[in-house]
Formats: sequence, structure tokens, C-alpha cells
Amino acid sequence: MTKEIKGPQLNRRGFMGASTLGTGAALVGLGMSGGALAQGNPAAGAPQVDFPNDPRLFGGSGTNRTEMDLRDCEVEGDWPKDLDGAFYRVGPDPQYPKQPEYVGDIPFDGEGHVSMFRIKDGHVDYKTRYARNARWVAQAEARQSLFGMYRNPGTDDPSVAGFNRGTANTQLFTHHGKLLVFKEDSPPVAMDPLTLETIDPEYTFGGKLESKTHTAHPKIDPLTGEFVSFGYEATGFLSKDVNVFTADKDGNITWSVTVEAPYAGMMHDFCVTQDYVVLYLPNMPADEALIAEGGPHFRYNSQLPCYLGVLKRGGDGSDMKWFTGPNYFCTHVMGGWNEGTKITVDMDGGEGNQFPFFPSLHEPWDPVKGTGYLRRFTVDLAARGDSYEAVTIFPEITGVLARQDDRYHTLPYRWGFLQANGGWAIIDHQAGTSKVFTIPGVSLSEMCFVPRTPDAAEGDGYLIGLGSVQAEGGRSDLILLDLANVDAGPRARVKMPYRCVGQVHGWWADASAIGA
Ligand SMILES: [Fe+2]
Repeated sequence: MTKEIKGPQLNRRGFMGASTLGTGAALVGLGMSGGALAQGNPAAGAPQVDFPNDPRLFGGSGTNRTEMDLRDCEVEGDWPKDLDGAFYRVGPDPQYPKQPEYVGDIPFDGEGHVSMFRIKDGHVDYKTRYARNARWVAQAEARQSLFGMYRNPGTDDPSVAGFNRGTANTQLFTHHGKLLVFKEDSPPVAMDPLTLETIDPEYTFGGKLESKTHTAHPKIDPLTGEFVSFGYEATGFLSKDVNVFTADKDGNITWSVTVEAPYAGMMHDFCVTQDYVVLYLPNMPADEALIAEGGPHFRYNSQLPCYLGVLKRGGDGSDMKWFTGPNYFCTHVMGGWNEGTKITVDMDGGEGNQFPFFPSLHEPWDPVKGTGYLRRFTVDLAARGDSYEAVTIFPEITGVLARQDDRYHTLPYRWGFLQANGGWAIIDHQAGTSKVFTIPGVSLSEMCFVPRTPDAAEGDGYLIGLGSVQAEGGRSDLILLDLANVDAGPRARVKMPYRCVGQVHGWWADASAIGA
């Protein structure tokens, strides 16, 4: 019997476009590449592990799946002897091939595979483990995929009805002694920061997390050490409710409030300032009709307004206000702050959909409109009206996956970083200048900023991230760039013997944060 294949499946143009711009940068991080077009799905009978060869199908662009330990990686160059910490990464790494009708599922539905480069005394050890949550365990026991389309529980095997569907594949974060691994449709998975053992497959801050979901991009207030976070679709599948909360440096929830968004939709990142929480709702709504058809969760709607939402930290949420303005499809926040009632937020985003694997309601996917630029949003709560302003800054730079020196989130900041077409863009807001660091023949994934010392000045330190060596089948190098001497090229690198597990995002943790 031939089964209908669900899902949008990128056409060739969409796939190649995704690989070169927009959130395609994340796909570079995942190590996706072209390949043969033969499809190898199991016939009826005993379930087999046979991923498709077509890169447009789920898992067809490459999987890793091997949990690894490599002590004393091969290092080159001048690794700073006093650099003591861990560089963590996480990305979707399909645990099993999808059932035949769901091979059109999107790449972001793979199970989260966590990797760690532990760096100390110039030595680097590498370790990877899957986040072993309920989904991973159920599938491991069944030896096959039990979950259907991306964030569509109606497509699941009946044996996992009501399960937490989270994949823990997007971002990870150290706080109050735990490595928390996130997928925005579910609570975090807590792992041991040194062994990567899963210690809580559904971490709820001691049972106090009110939201059923949790963002992949929480923030730490550098002045208080507080963990500030949110979850959308907080009270249930497709709900418009957004829960915003704060936990203290020990993980105790100290503030929690639930507000309502204009519509249920993708709210991937957010901004925290000293006085406000700023939410952003780009025009990628959760689409009930698409879900009912067996498709993925979201469908881009260019005719819906984007909303910037502001609420006061520590309040009861009754001041929540939503603003509209230029419709930029933004996903990641570089930085933001407030001066009194005036709020500034920098985000990367396109004029249109940056996720070609989510269908568009009104028009075909447009790679030009999907190209990411840095956009500066401003709003004054004291002004009349309900609109924000947004302008493009540093138009010479196209890129995505914005980062900053995380010690300056909530505060006015000088230095920002973007993954820019296989390189790393370094932006100096104070001087108004930018430069792009590249390594010929190497595609660089998203990077993290590493302070030279815990109390170093803003921007004084390194960028760390993975490079994919094109001439060697995508073999991985871990690159360390000294921001004090960018023109000299990488200060040091780790030459891995294979292509490492892919990533969406990474996180640097000082040894003091991981109990090392
Ligand atoms: Fe993200």
C-alpha cells in the first residue's frame, strides 16, 4: 500500500536556499548537504533503521546518532592555558527514521543530541549524549519512530498519546548547577553538566513551573544572576497564553505571570531589559488547519501583523501592551536595554519567512525576503499610540543567529556577533563598524563569546564555534578566535577526526558554573 507523505518537503530551490541564507545558517550547523536522490524506506515487516538518501526527506541529509567520548582531542595553535570551561552544543539528530507517511517532516524534529568540548589546561575532551527524555526512551524501547510530524500530536503512534513530545534539540544553558536543554514546546531536560547524564527528563523548577512549555532562549540578568524565561502556548496546545517567569540563582521561581498574545504563534526568542520583558511574535502562526491536515505546527502568513509585546518585570501582567510596526520576521535577539520608558531591541530577521520548510499561506517562499539583516526596534511606552519603529542597521551584513557578550544582556551593549554566510560577523555598535571573519574552505556554525577572564571588559575575549571543512567531507574543526587579534586568524583549533554532531545553538560555561 502506498501511503501519502505528509509535510511540506523542501523542493530543490527551497533546500538549496535554506542552505545558503536565513535560518539555513542553522542547517549549515546541522551539517546538511546534498546527496543522491534514491529513497530507502522500509517495506512492510519488521521495523528497520533505514534513513532515506534524499536530503529533502527527514534524516536524509545526514545523521550522527553515535554517542561519543574522545579524551585528548588533537589540538593546534595556542590554546590559552587559563581557559577553563565547557563549550556545549545541541542540535536535532534523528534517533530513528520517520514512519513512511511522515518522511516529509522538517529537520527541526530530530531528537536532541548534546555535545561538550571540555577545555582545561590546553587540553580538550569531547563527549556527546542524547537528551534521554520520555520521547527518546519510548522510541529506543520500540526501536522505531513513534512521533509523527513536527509539533503535531495527532500524527503520533497511539502508544505515546499524551506523552511529552519535546525533542530538547534547540539550545542549552547552565544555571543553578544544571545543564538545561530546551525545545520550546516542552519543559527543559536537565543533564549533569560534566557527564551529560540525563538527571530529569522533564525539569519543572521543583514543580513550580506554571507553563507547559519553555523557551529555548532564556536570559540571565547579569546584575542579579536571575534566570528570566517564558513559555508560549503555555496553558495548552494552541493556547494564546504566554507565561513569563523569573528564577533566582538557586533555581527558585520568584515571579510568574501569564499574559495573552494576539494569536498563538512562534515566539522563539525574547529580550529582557533591567525593567521590562519584551516578547516578539512574528507572523508565523500556529495553523490549526495545517495541523489537522497532518502538517507541521506553523504556516507563515505575510498578511498578519508582527507584534512586539512589553510588560514590566515583577508586575502582575496587567500592563502588558502589544505594539505593531514594520513586519520583520525576526527570530533571534542580539541585545536590548531600556532607558526609562524607551526600549531598544536588536534582532536579526528578514522581510519574509526565514524557514522555507514551513509553508507560506499566501505566496511561495522568497529567498531574498528571507535574508537576515540586523533590525533595531524601538518603542517608547510613554508615547501615544501602539506602534514600534524598526530600522535596518549594518546593512552591509547579512546573517542570522545573533549573539552578544551575554554578560551584557539587559544593558546597553557595544559588541554583537552574527553567523554571516559561513563566517562570523563582529559588530561594534559604538564605533558603527563591522567586519566578517572567515576561514577559506570552512563553513562556520553559530559561535559563542567567551570572556578572556570572568571579569574581563565587554568584548574582551574569544569567539568559539565549529567549522565544517568542505574539502574533507565536512570534518569538524573547533575554532577559537581571539577578538584582540582577529586579523591573525584562529588562535587555536581542535582538529576532530570526524564530522561532529550538528547544532542549532551553543553555550559557553565557565568551570565555576559546571562544578568542575
Ligand atoms: Fe534559536
